[in-house]
Formats: sequence, C-alpha cells, structure tokens
Amino acid sequence: MEVGRADPRRRGRSASPLVQLAGRVRTVEVGRAGTLMDMLRQRTDGIGLGRGDPDLPTPDHIVAAGQDALARGLTRYTPLPGLPELRQAVADKLRRDNGIEADPDTEVVITTGTQEAVFVALCALLDTGDEILLADPYYNSYATMLHYLGAALVAVPTSAADGFQIDPDEFERRITPRTKAIALLTPNNPTGAVYPRDRLQGIARVAERHGLYVISDELYETVVFEGRPFSIASMPGMRDRTITINGFSKAYSMTGWRVGYLAGPRAAVDALVTLRHTLTICAPTMSQHAAVAALRGPQACLGERLAIYRARRDFTLARLAEAGIPCVPPQGTFYVFVDIRPSGLSSEEFAFTLMEREGVFVYPGGYFGRRGEGFERISLVVREPELGEAIERMARVMRRPRRA
Ligand SMILES: Cc1ncc(COP(=O)(O)O)c(C=O)c1O
Repeated sequence: MEVGRADPRRRGRSASPLVQLAGRVRTVEVGRAGTLMDMLRQRTDGIGLGRGDPDLPTPDHIVAAGQDALARGLTRYTPLPGLPELRQAVADKLRRDNGIEADPDTEVVITTGTQEAVFVALCALLDTGDEILLADPYYNSYATMLHYLGAALVAVPTSAADGFQIDPDEFERRITPRTKAIALLTPNNPTGAVYPRDRLQGIARVAERHGLYVISDELYETVVFEGRPFSIASMPGMRDRTITINGFSKAYSMTGWRVGYLAGPRAAVDALVTLRHTLTICAPTMSQHAAVAALRGPQACLGERLAIYRARRDFTLARLAEAGIPCVPPQGTFYVFVDIRPSGLSSEEFAFTLMEREGVFVYPGGYFGRRGEGFERISLVVREPELGEAIERMARVMRRPRRA
C-alpha cells in the first residue's frame, strides 16, 4: 500500500522563519515540474511536451458565445450549482453519450474546471484516514489533493506489460475497513489506457460487494483511438454510488476557461453544492455560457481534433520505433508514456538531462506514482515537425544518457 512517496527532493518548502506553516503544506510532495517549466521558458529553441494543454484553439462558435456573454453584461455570479442552461445541457449530454440519467436541478453541479470537481468529490467522500483505491500510475493531482485531505491513496499497481490495464481483483485485494471509494480515470492520464466494459463491470461488482463509492473521471472521453469509453455510472446498480466527472478542457481545448462538472446521486450532490460554492463561488460566468455553446453547438470539432491527435500519435509511435525508444501505445488521450528504462536514468534525471542538454520538456513518469517510474509522459500538443525534432533530441539522450 502506498500512501504518498517519500523522496526528500520533493519534500515541501522550508518553513518561513516568521511563520510556522501548516503541516499539510509543509509536507506536501511536489515534483519539480515547475522548475522544468521555468527552464523551458529560458530556451529559445525549447519544445514543450510537458503539460496536457492542447495547442489547438477553442472552436470559434464557443469563443463567440463567451464574447457574447461578456457583451451582454453576463458577468455576475451564477446560481450555486451553476447556470441552469448548462446543467440542462450537461444532463442531455450524459443521457445521449453516456447512458446516465441525471436530474439537472438536483444531480448536476458545474465546477471551476474538472480539477475542482475532483477535489470536492474527494472532500465529500473521504474523512481523514479513509482510503481510496486508484490505479498507479495516476494523475498526480489526486495524490496532492488526498494529502491535503489527510486521506490515503491506496495505489493499485498496473503494468506496461498489460498496457496499464486494471484488474478488478487487484482492487478488491486492497480493500480494508477504511476503504471508502475507488477512483477510475478512463481514458487514463498518464498512460492512455481505456478500460473496457468487462473490466469496469468487474470494478462495479467490487464496489457493490463492499459498499464503495466510485469517482469516474472521464475528461478524455472524446480522445479514444482504440476501444470505446464506457461510463461506469450507466451500469446496473452503479448510478447511485458513482460521481461522474468531466469537463471542457481537453475535448474543446478550453483549459483556460475553467469549466467542468460532476453528476451523482442527489444526496451526495446536495452536500457538494455548498462545498463547491465555498471554494470558488462559481465557475466563470462567461465560460459557463461558452460551455453551453460547446455542448449545444456543432460537434464536428470533436472528430477533427480526434483526427489530429490520432495523426500525431501515429507519427510519434512511428518515430519512436525508428529511434528504438520503447513505449506503451496509448488507446486514448493525447499522451504517450515513453519507456526510458534502457537509459538507466530515473525519470526525473532523464527529464532534467533532456531539458538541460536538448531543451525538451517532458513530464517525469515517477511523478505519477511508483509504477510511472522509468517512463516519461509526452503530450502531443505540438505539430508533427516539432514532435519529430523532440524525439530526435530524446534519442540523443537515450544513446548517451550520461556525459562521458
Ligand atoms: C484526469 C484529469 N482530471 C482532471 C484534470 C483537470 O482538468 P481541468 O482543466 O478540467 O480542471 C486533468 C488535467 O489534466 C486530468 O488529466
């Protein structure tokens, strides 16, 4: 069982001489991705494949809806659970695309990005000392949030050999009297794994047998190359124990707009409304109007984006193969989890060497949990010529990881 990691280089900042900060911020394990980002900014020839921040622009009709909201003076707070039109659009989308019935008035909440939806869901479900099961590697913000809550991340190992798929038995084996929930990220950040229906059915049975909640983070559902995304909340018996989380950042290239949502059983959602309001009052109002246009407007942009990410993925896999760099081909998302174990460097050493020598920013796999060690996550958020150049630079480090 893993409860955070204990690498002293990641330990919190030193305490100020004037103020003794709270333990939760002093002891948080922060990776050094911020340092890599700073180093990238100082390079004129740098290539950023670190953050999951799409380079493709927000579609015009969505931007126009945001601008129109501003022009109409729609700049005040929205109701506590979010703009009614947006909650209705979300409920319609969940029914149409995900097979989930959610009452827009009582079972849907609009959040300031998906990130806030994750935080309030974890807050609502977990008391201090409670445990939540999460496939490792995992999106690292989950670990940070759980640290702040004093809840325990119980890492369920997945492996490259199995395409980072989940095994429901491995989840069940780790259940203790403190286990409250299972978090599923499908398609998965950082591995790109998409969990098939039978594995999700297995997880559903485990959740029912042990009376657990499920948090289902489906933020990358529109970027799937192989297989089909399934929403566990649509499976029999799961609606009332699942909080489904999604947003607009990745599907519609809206990372900076900060809108997301969650849907779940009324009892949980009621509690979440106040909790969410306490954090940010409401998601930006113009962004909520833009999000209505995203869901109600033409959906061709999703297919166009998927085609672009597919082309970048295929290009990247081909170039990596030519360069003799192994990876686990992603079934979805715009990430590729590259296997740098042959270099003999840790994922952090590799990322810093690659940045110092070649000006390429990738995200160390070890920041995504123990099972991510030995990998780098690259984001396909630049065009093919830059991806090709970045892979060439990566190959140079792979060939000569340490200076002679
Ligand atoms: C799995 C997952 N959930 C949530 C988030 C947060 O996204 P948002 O920009 O919608 O807050 C991210 C961001 O990368 C993510 O990868």
